Amino acid sequence: MRLLIGASKDPGHKGDANRLVERISHVCQIDLSNYRLSYVERRVAARMRVLRLRSYRQYCQHLDDEPGERALLLDTLTINVTDFFRDASVYRFLSQQVLPELIDRKRRSRNRLIRVWSAGCSTGEEPYSLAMALMEGIGRHGEEVHFSVVGTDLDVKALEVAKQAEYPITRASHIPKTLQAKYLEFTGDRFKIRPKVSKHVRFRPLDLFSGRPVGMVDLILCRNVFIYFNKDQQEKILDKFWSSLTKGGYLVLGKSEKMPASMVGKFESIQGRERVYRKTDGL
Ligand SMILES: C[S@@+](CC[C@H](N)C(=O)[O-])C[C@H]1O[C@@H](n2cnc3c(N)ncnc32)[C@H](O)[C@@H]1O
Repeated sequence: MRLLIGASKDPGHKGDANRLVERISHVCQIDLSNYRLSYVERRVAARMRVLRLRSYRQYCQHLDDEPGERALLLDTLTINVTDFFRDASVYRFLSQQVLPELIDRKRRSRNRLIRVWSAGCSTGEEPYSLAMALMEGIGRHGEEVHFSVVGTDLDVKALEVAKQAEYPITRASHIPKTLQAKYLEFTGDRFKIRPKVSKHVRFRPLDLFSGRPVGMVDLILCRNVFIYFNKDQQEKILDKFWSSLTKGGYLVLGKSEKMPASMVGKFESIQGRERVYRKTDGL
Protein backbone atom coordinates (compact mmCIF):
# COMPACT_ATOMS: atom_id res chain seq x y z
CA MET A 1 0.00 0.00 0.00
CA ARG A 2 1.96 2.98 -1.29
CA LEU A 3 -0.75 5.52 -1.40
CA LEU A 4 -0.50 8.97 0.10
CA ILE A 5 -3.70 10.92 0.67
CA GLY A 6 -4.56 12.93 -2.36
CA ALA A 7 -2.49 10.82 -4.76
CA SER A 8 -5.66 9.46 -6.37
CA LYS A 9 -4.17 9.55 -9.90
CA ASP A 10 -1.66 6.90 -8.86
CA PRO A 11 -2.47 3.82 -11.01
CA GLY A 12 -2.14 1.63 -7.93
CA HIS A 13 -4.74 3.68 -6.06
CA LYS A 14 -7.71 1.40 -6.63
CA GLY A 15 -5.79 -1.68 -5.50
CA ASP A 16 -4.57 0.11 -2.38
CA ALA A 17 -8.05 1.37 -1.60
CA ASN A 18 -9.52 -2.11 -2.07
CA ARG A 19 -6.92 -3.63 0.24
CA LEU A 20 -7.73 -0.95 2.79
CA VAL A 21 -11.42 -1.85 2.64
CA GLU A 22 -10.62 -5.56 3.04
CA ARG A 23 -8.49 -4.80 6.08
CA ILE A 24 -11.15 -2.61 7.70
CA SER A 25 -13.87 -5.19 6.98
CA HIS A 26 -11.76 -7.83 8.67
CA VAL A 27 -10.72 -5.80 11.74
CA CYS A 28 -14.11 -4.11 12.27
CA GLN A 29 -16.19 -7.14 11.28
CA ILE A 30 -18.34 -4.97 9.03
CA ASP A 31 -19.45 -5.71 5.48
CA LEU A 32 -18.30 -2.70 3.49
CA SER A 33 -19.06 -4.18 0.09
CA ASN A 34 -22.26 -2.13 0.02
CA TYR A 35 -20.53 1.19 0.57
CA ARG A 36 -19.13 3.38 -2.17
CA LEU A 37 -15.35 3.08 -2.20
CA SER A 38 -14.97 6.85 -2.42
CA TYR A 39 -17.19 7.23 0.66
CA VAL A 40 -15.06 4.84 2.75
CA GLU A 41 -11.91 6.59 1.56
CA ARG A 42 -13.25 10.01 2.54
CA ARG A 43 -14.14 8.80 6.02
CA VAL A 44 -10.77 7.08 6.51
CA ALA A 45 -9.04 10.23 5.27
CA ALA A 46 -10.85 12.14 8.02
CA ARG A 47 -9.43 9.76 10.64
CA MET A 48 -5.98 9.95 9.05
CA ARG A 49 -6.02 13.74 9.21
CA VAL A 50 -6.82 13.62 12.92
CA LEU A 51 -4.06 11.09 13.51
CA ARG A 52 -1.63 12.86 11.16
CA LEU A 53 -1.00 9.64 9.24
CA ARG A 54 -0.01 9.86 5.57
CA SER A 55 -0.59 6.44 4.07
CA TYR A 56 -3.18 3.69 4.19
CA ARG A 57 -0.37 1.37 5.32
CA GLN A 58 0.25 3.57 8.37
CA TYR A 59 -3.47 3.71 9.06
CA CYS A 60 -3.87 -0.09 8.91
CA GLN A 61 -0.92 -0.46 11.27
CA HIS A 62 -2.62 1.96 13.66
CA LEU A 63 -5.86 0.00 13.38
CA ASP A 64 -3.99 -3.18 14.35
CA ASP A 65 -2.05 -1.58 17.22
CA GLU A 66 -4.71 0.60 18.85
CA PRO A 67 -7.79 -1.31 19.98
CA GLY A 68 -9.77 1.95 20.44
CA GLU A 69 -9.40 2.90 16.78
CA ARG A 70 -11.90 0.28 15.66
CA ALA A 71 -14.79 1.97 17.49
CA LEU A 72 -13.68 5.43 16.36
CA LEU A 73 -13.59 4.33 12.74
CA LEU A 74 -17.00 2.69 12.99
CA ASP A 75 -18.38 5.94 14.40
CA THR A 76 -16.86 7.84 11.49
CA LEU A 77 -18.24 5.44 8.89
CA THR A 78 -21.82 5.64 10.12
CA ILE A 79 -22.42 9.36 10.46
CA ASN A 80 -25.49 9.81 12.61
CA VAL A 81 -26.29 13.45 11.87
CA THR A 82 -30.03 13.98 12.20
CA ASP A 83 -32.54 16.40 13.67
CA PHE A 84 -36.14 16.74 14.78
CA PHE A 85 -38.32 17.85 11.85
CA ARG A 86 -35.25 17.88 9.60
CA ASP A 87 -36.20 19.72 6.38
CA ALA A 88 -39.33 21.46 7.64
CA SER A 89 -40.85 21.63 4.14
CA VAL A 90 -40.93 17.81 3.93
CA TYR A 91 -42.86 17.60 7.20
CA ARG A 92 -45.20 20.37 5.98
CA PHE A 93 -45.93 18.34 2.86
CA LEU A 94 -46.42 15.14 4.87
CA SER A 95 -48.76 16.89 7.32
CA GLN A 96 -50.79 18.68 4.63
CA GLN A 97 -51.00 16.02 1.91
CA VAL A 98 -49.71 12.56 2.78
CA LEU A 99 -50.93 12.00 6.35
CA PRO A 100 -54.49 13.32 5.75
CA GLU A 101 -54.80 11.02 2.73
CA LEU A 102 -53.53 8.04 4.74
CA ILE A 103 -55.77 8.81 7.70
CA ASP A 104 -58.76 9.15 5.42
CA ARG A 105 -57.94 5.90 3.65
CA LYS A 106 -57.64 4.05 6.98
CA ARG A 107 -60.90 5.49 8.28
CA ARG A 108 -62.62 3.96 5.29
CA SER A 109 -60.82 0.63 5.59
CA ARG A 110 -61.17 -2.31 7.97
CA ASN A 111 -57.47 -2.06 8.85
CA ARG A 112 -57.29 1.12 10.95
CA LEU A 113 -53.56 0.96 11.76
CA ILE A 114 -51.11 3.28 9.98
CA ARG A 115 -47.66 1.70 9.99
CA VAL A 116 -44.60 3.87 9.39
CA TRP A 117 -40.97 2.82 8.97
CA SER A 118 -38.06 5.20 9.51
CA ALA A 119 -35.18 3.32 7.84
CA GLY A 120 -31.76 4.58 8.98
CA CYS A 121 -33.29 6.45 11.90
CA SER A 122 -30.02 7.18 13.73
CA THR A 123 -30.73 8.50 17.26
CA GLY A 124 -34.52 8.59 16.86
CA GLU A 125 -35.34 12.21 16.05
CA GLU A 126 -37.05 11.28 12.76
CA PRO A 127 -39.38 8.57 14.16
CA TYR A 128 -40.40 10.79 17.09
CA SER A 129 -41.05 13.73 14.72
CA LEU A 130 -43.25 11.45 12.61
CA ALA A 131 -45.11 10.25 15.68
CA MET A 132 -45.82 13.85 16.72
CA ALA A 133 -46.97 14.74 13.19
CA LEU A 134 -49.26 11.69 13.16
CA MET A 135 -50.77 12.56 16.54
CA GLU A 136 -51.51 16.04 15.26
CA GLY A 137 -52.99 14.67 12.03
CA ILE A 138 -55.12 12.00 13.66
CA GLY A 139 -56.37 14.47 16.29
CA ARG A 140 -60.05 13.88 16.96
CA HIS A 141 -60.07 10.62 14.97
CA GLY A 142 -57.89 8.95 17.62
CA GLU A 143 -60.61 6.44 18.46
CA GLU A 144 -60.86 5.32 14.86
CA VAL A 145 -57.31 5.37 13.52
CA HIS A 146 -54.15 4.14 15.26
CA PHE A 147 -50.52 4.24 14.28
CA SER A 148 -47.11 2.74 14.99
CA VAL A 149 -43.66 3.89 13.94
CA VAL A 150 -40.68 1.54 13.68
CA GLY A 151 -37.19 3.04 13.61
CA THR A 152 -34.32 0.87 12.36
CA ASP A 153 -30.60 1.44 11.97
CA LEU A 154 -27.48 -0.69 11.79
CA ASP A 155 -25.82 1.41 14.49
CA VAL A 156 -26.85 -0.11 17.81
CA LYS A 157 -25.27 2.70 19.80
CA ALA A 158 -27.47 5.25 18.02
CA LEU A 159 -30.50 3.07 18.73
CA GLU A 160 -29.67 3.02 22.45
CA VAL A 161 -29.93 6.82 22.44
CA ALA A 162 -33.17 6.62 20.46
CA LYS A 163 -34.77 4.23 22.95
CA GLN A 164 -34.06 6.60 25.85
CA ALA A 165 -36.31 9.22 24.17
CA GLU A 166 -34.32 11.87 25.99
CA TYR A 167 -32.26 14.67 24.42
CA PRO A 168 -30.32 17.82 25.35
CA ILE A 169 -32.52 20.91 25.36
CA THR A 170 -30.66 22.39 22.37
CA ARG A 171 -32.17 19.64 20.17
CA ALA A 172 -35.68 21.01 20.73
CA SER A 173 -35.15 24.15 18.67
CA HIS A 174 -36.64 22.69 15.47
CA ILE A 175 -39.72 21.30 17.18
CA PRO A 176 -42.62 23.76 16.76
CA LYS A 177 -43.48 25.47 20.05
CA THR A 178 -47.07 24.16 20.06
CA LEU A 179 -45.76 20.59 19.77
CA GLN A 180 -43.13 21.17 22.45
CA ALA A 181 -45.87 22.15 24.88
CA LYS A 182 -47.96 19.07 24.11
CA TYR A 183 -45.41 16.34 23.61
CA LEU A 184 -42.18 17.19 25.51
CA GLU A 185 -41.33 17.16 29.18
CA PHE A 186 -38.47 19.52 30.12
CA THR A 187 -36.21 18.83 33.09
CA GLY A 188 -33.13 21.04 33.61
CA ASP A 189 -31.08 21.09 30.41
CA ARG A 190 -32.78 18.05 28.90
CA PHE A 191 -36.17 17.02 27.62
CA LYS A 192 -37.98 13.74 27.27
CA ILE A 193 -40.54 12.71 24.66
CA ARG A 194 -43.76 12.15 26.59
CA PRO A 195 -44.93 8.52 26.84
CA LYS A 196 -48.14 9.34 24.94
CA VAL A 197 -45.83 9.78 21.91
CA SER A 198 -43.01 7.33 22.64
CA LYS A 199 -45.40 4.43 23.31
CA HIS A 200 -46.14 4.39 19.56
CA VAL A 201 -42.46 4.19 18.55
CA ARG A 202 -40.29 1.05 18.57
CA PHE A 203 -36.69 0.55 17.51
CA ARG A 204 -34.74 -2.41 16.19
CA PRO A 205 -31.29 -2.96 14.66
CA LEU A 206 -31.41 -3.62 10.94
CA ASP A 207 -28.85 -3.58 8.16
CA LEU A 208 -30.83 -2.58 5.10
CA PHE A 209 -28.89 -5.05 2.95
CA SER A 210 -29.05 -8.17 5.04
CA GLY A 211 -31.78 -7.71 7.66
CA ARG A 212 -35.44 -8.66 7.50
CA PRO A 213 -37.28 -5.55 6.27
CA VAL A 214 -40.23 -4.15 8.19
CA GLY A 215 -43.31 -5.42 6.38
CA MET A 216 -46.75 -4.04 5.53
CA VAL A 217 -45.95 -0.38 6.02
CA ASP A 218 -47.92 2.58 4.64
CA LEU A 219 -45.08 5.10 4.71
CA ILE A 220 -41.30 4.70 4.63
CA LEU A 221 -38.85 7.48 5.30
CA CYS A 222 -35.32 6.64 4.23
CA ARG A 223 -33.58 9.97 4.18
CA ASN A 224 -29.89 10.76 4.00
CA VAL A 225 -28.98 7.08 3.96
CA PHE A 226 -28.63 6.52 0.20
CA ILE A 227 -25.64 8.88 0.19
CA TYR A 228 -23.60 5.88 1.28
CA PHE A 229 -24.69 3.57 -1.53
CA ASN A 230 -24.11 3.26 -5.25
CA LYS A 231 -26.93 2.94 -7.81
CA ASP A 232 -27.10 -0.89 -7.79
CA GLN A 233 -27.28 -0.93 -4.03
CA GLN A 234 -29.95 1.78 -3.99
CA GLU A 235 -32.00 -0.28 -6.45
CA LYS A 236 -31.73 -3.36 -4.24
CA ILE A 237 -33.03 -1.46 -1.24
CA LEU A 238 -35.78 0.24 -3.26
CA ASP A 239 -36.96 -3.20 -4.37
CA LYS A 240 -37.21 -4.20 -0.72
CA PHE A 241 -39.11 -1.00 0.10
CA TRP A 242 -41.50 -1.67 -2.77
CA SER A 243 -42.29 -5.12 -1.32
CA SER A 244 -42.65 -3.73 2.21
CA LEU A 245 -45.13 -1.02 1.22
CA THR A 246 -48.86 -1.60 1.20
CA LYS A 247 -50.79 -0.71 -1.97
CA GLY A 248 -50.45 3.03 -2.65
CA GLY A 249 -47.90 3.37 0.19
CA TYR A 250 -45.52 6.34 0.28
CA LEU A 251 -41.75 6.61 0.27
CA VAL A 252 -39.71 9.68 1.20
CA LEU A 253 -36.03 10.02 0.30
CA GLY A 254 -33.56 12.70 1.43
CA LYS A 255 -33.60 16.10 -0.25
CA SER A 256 -30.31 15.45 -2.04
CA GLU A 257 -31.22 11.90 -3.07
CA LYS A 258 -33.16 10.90 -6.12
CA MET A 259 -34.99 7.90 -7.49
CA PRO A 260 -32.84 5.96 -10.00
CA ALA A 261 -34.46 6.07 -13.48
CA SER A 262 -34.74 2.27 -13.45
CA MET A 263 -37.23 2.45 -10.55
CA VAL A 264 -39.72 4.94 -11.98
CA GLY A 265 -42.06 2.10 -12.95
CA LYS A 266 -42.30 1.12 -9.29
CA PHE A 267 -42.51 4.53 -7.65
CA GLU A 268 -44.27 7.59 -9.03
CA SER A 269 -43.17 11.01 -7.91
CA ILE A 270 -45.78 12.84 -5.84
CA GLN A 271 -43.71 15.88 -4.96
CA GLY A 272 -40.38 16.12 -6.75
CA ARG A 273 -38.70 18.77 -4.61
CA GLU A 274 -39.58 17.00 -1.35
CA ARG A 275 -38.64 13.58 -2.79
CA VAL A 276 -42.01 12.04 -1.98
CA TYR A 277 -43.01 8.97 -4.01
CA ARG A 278 -45.92 6.57 -4.11
CA LYS A 279 -45.75 2.86 -4.79
CA THR A 280 -47.27 1.90 -8.13
CA ASP A 281 -48.43 -1.57 -9.15
CA GLY A 282 -44.97 -2.02 -10.65
CA LEU A 283 -46.22 -3.20 -14.01
C1 LIG B 1 -27.23 10.68 8.29
S1 LIG B 1 -28.15 9.50 9.21
C2 LIG B 1 -29.81 9.88 8.69
C3 LIG B 1 -30.80 9.91 9.84
C4 LIG B 1 -32.22 10.32 9.44
N1 LIG B 1 -32.77 9.42 8.47
C5 LIG B 1 -32.24 11.74 8.92
O1 LIG B 1 -32.36 11.96 7.72
O2 LIG B 1 -32.11 12.66 9.72
C6 LIG B 1 -27.82 8.01 8.30
C7 LIG B 1 -28.06 6.75 9.10
O3 LIG B 1 -28.03 5.64 8.20
C8 LIG B 1 -27.51 4.53 8.90
N2 LIG B 1 -27.04 3.50 7.95
C9 LIG B 1 -25.96 3.54 7.13
N3 LIG B 1 -25.86 2.40 6.43
C10 LIG B 1 -26.90 1.63 6.81
C11 LIG B 1 -27.35 0.33 6.45
N4 LIG B 1 -26.69 -0.43 5.56
N5 LIG B 1 -28.45 -0.17 7.06
C12 LIG B 1 -29.12 0.57 7.97
N6 LIG B 1 -28.77 1.82 8.35
C13 LIG B 1 -27.66 2.33 7.78
C14 LIG B 1 -26.37 5.15 9.72
O4 LIG B 1 -26.02 4.32 10.82
C15 LIG B 1 -26.99 6.49 10.14
O5 LIG B 1 -27.56 6.42 11.43
